Amino acid sequence: MMQKSSIIVALDYDSADKALVLAEQLNPQQCLLKVGKSLFTRCGPSLLRALADLGHRVFLDLKYHDIPATVAGAVQAAADLNVWMVNVHASGGSQMLEAAARALAGYHQRPLLIGVTVLTSMNQQTYQSLGFVRSLPEQVAHLTRLTMEAGLDGVVCSPLEVQAVKARFPQAVTVTPGVRPYWASQDDQSRILTPKQACERGSDFLVIGRPITTAAEPQTALLKIIEELGE
Ligand code: C5P
Repeated sequence: MMQKSSIIVALDYDSADKALVLAEQLNPQQCLLKVGKSLFTRCGPSLLRALADLGHRVFLDLKYHDIPATVAGAVQAAADLNVWMVNVHASGGSQMLEAAARALAGYHQRPLLIGVTVLTSMNQQTYQSLGFVRSLPEQVAHLTRLTMEAGLDGVVCSPLEVQAVKARFPQAVTVTPGVRPYWASQDDQSRILTPKQACERGSDFLVIGRPITTAAEPQTALLKIIEELGE
């Protein structure tokens, strides 16, 4: 039987209070939470501790991209904060990826380490304007290979790319934003799939923000998505 995807709720708020009000409404057994650059820059490690006190597991989505030693130190700092998942840009290259993986090797309980392939906000035109010659799908495949060969656990990619990733690396943990239930607003997302479609294509973790965070009853919205995944 196909394994069901889990849901990561994106806490895209500008204050710890707002994030915690939402976190208190969500069942930690039924979702994971994502803290990104703006919330973390405002609220820092104390917010992560408060979320952990509520029983939540956190994906620290800071997409590190720097020289290998700096990324290794950052990944270790994230592990010391007991986050459940952390990520780096795969385009930082093999040495950086290997340094990140090595940095976590000594941990008894380490976070999942995930590589970001190509941002889904990139289209072929903006991507080629950077001087890359491969097509976007080829670049996603290439960066996935670098990520997995360096010993990371998986990749962030578009739900439209998940099947290709899983075909080549079935063991890769796949994390996909760009997911919208049919009943929710598309917001500013463009290339979207429903949770069920993303799950069927092999996405292990669905990153979903506003359909849950702006719902009148966030836990009810979460449960509705979980039910749809099980149908
Ligand atoms: O509200 P929504 O479901 O669109 O939130 C999606 C989350 O996933 C946001 O935190 C957004 O920054 C993140 N994300 C994304 N597309 C990417 C990478 C991350 O939407 N390619």
